[in-house]
Amino acid sequence: MEYISRKIRKLSDSQTMAMNQKSRDLQDKGVDVINLSVGEPDFPTPPHVKDAARKALDDNFTFYSPVGGYPDLKQAISRKFLSENGLNYGPANIMASNGAKHSLANAIMVLVDDGDEVIVPSPYWVTYVELVKLAGGTNVIVKSKIEDDFKMSPRDLEEAITPKTRVLLLCSPNNPTGTVYTKEELAGFAEILSRHPGIFVISDEIYEHINFSGKHESIASFKEIHDRVIVINGVSKAYAMTGWRLGYLAGPEWVVKACSKLQGQFTSGPSSISQKASVAALTGGNSFPVEMMKAFLRRRDLVFELAGSIDGMKVSRPGGAFYLFPDISSYCGLSIDGTVIRDDNDFCMFLLEQAHVAAVPGTAFGAPNHIRISFATSDDRLTEAFKRMDKVLKRLK
Ligand SMILES: Cc1ncc(COP(=O)(O)O)c(C=O)c1O
Repeated sequence: MEYISRKIRKLSDSQTMAMNQKSRDLQDKGVDVINLSVGEPDFPTPPHVKDAARKALDDNFTFYSPVGGYPDLKQAISRKFLSENGLNYGPANIMASNGAKHSLANAIMVLVDDGDEVIVPSPYWVTYVELVKLAGGTNVIVKSKIEDDFKMSPRDLEEAITPKTRVLLLCSPNNPTGTVYTKEELAGFAEILSRHPGIFVISDEIYEHINFSGKHESIASFKEIHDRVIVINGVSKAYAMTGWRLGYLAGPEWVVKACSKLQGQFTSGPSSISQKASVAALTGGNSFPVEMMKAFLRRRDLVFELAGSIDGMKVSRPGGAFYLFPDISSYCGLSIDGTVIRDDNDFCMFLLEQAHVAAVPGTAFGAPNHIRISFATSDDRLTEAFKRMDKVLKRLK
């Protein structure tokens, strides 16, 4: 242990993965666990994407690729940005990596130096704060409330800025809350940032296609700050390709060059087969993501209603992604058979052991006394999960 570097010692284990593991352990013992802790679509990758992967193998795309990705992949990403987001990114502004998580890691490592501050609106995706720590930066957490739909206001942003601020990490649609910022709200952030030329935005748009509130808006579309925005995206959530590990970033050429230098030393280019499959995904039309979004919308309405009807669970309606993030503080302090539910960790353990439903404690996302419930599972299983939760929660006194 003492020989593990300080850098790694200060990293936390991923709590979403930990909860997933606990529910798998119970499942292995034959328990029927409904796992609502997962962060991936429950749909298989579409057939035309699988076909492209098979063809890539037959065509011997089995050698190293260029570090930032094949030219046809960069072209496909460039066209996607133009047609879906009205953004002009040429191949020199684009780099592919092993998942959006890897793209984020590249961008953070390249922009954040020891002592730099990174503004992270909370609730946040678990990985952000760990990557910032790894880069030697300081997380400046901006809290938000369920009553405000978990939104940071422009004023909150302004108050968090100091001379040390280097990056704002934005995520819309958001994991874990499903919050989606409107164009007007993003314009408010852009206006403030236009007065701070040394601050960059890393905009995580991985849930772009799972948006129930209308057209996706990117903060990169504001001209006054466009050159300081790094957009993170990928194929994992939009095309049900989480296992393929293909994400990408787009931004100023000098950022892409620096990311390429880092990736060239760390991993080289992403999987050749996944790149070819991703070209098919990105150029194959949007009928698959649209159909999947409709399924998630139906489930969003279902879980919002089911959770809202459970006494004591406070919910906000997610505008995107596939998570519900209820406030469960009204249960904290209650007990069952002499055991007190002190916080969200106890609450999730209670749900897992008594209802056999797995959810993730909000503490992992910087929001104690909340839980994250993923609705990336069938309508029937979701209905059953809430029935079980309602039953056991009624026993708390
Ligand atoms: C907000 C957010 N960003 C990025 C990622 C990572 O995506 P990928 O699987 O492409 O690495 C996830 C995955 O859960 C996520 O929730």
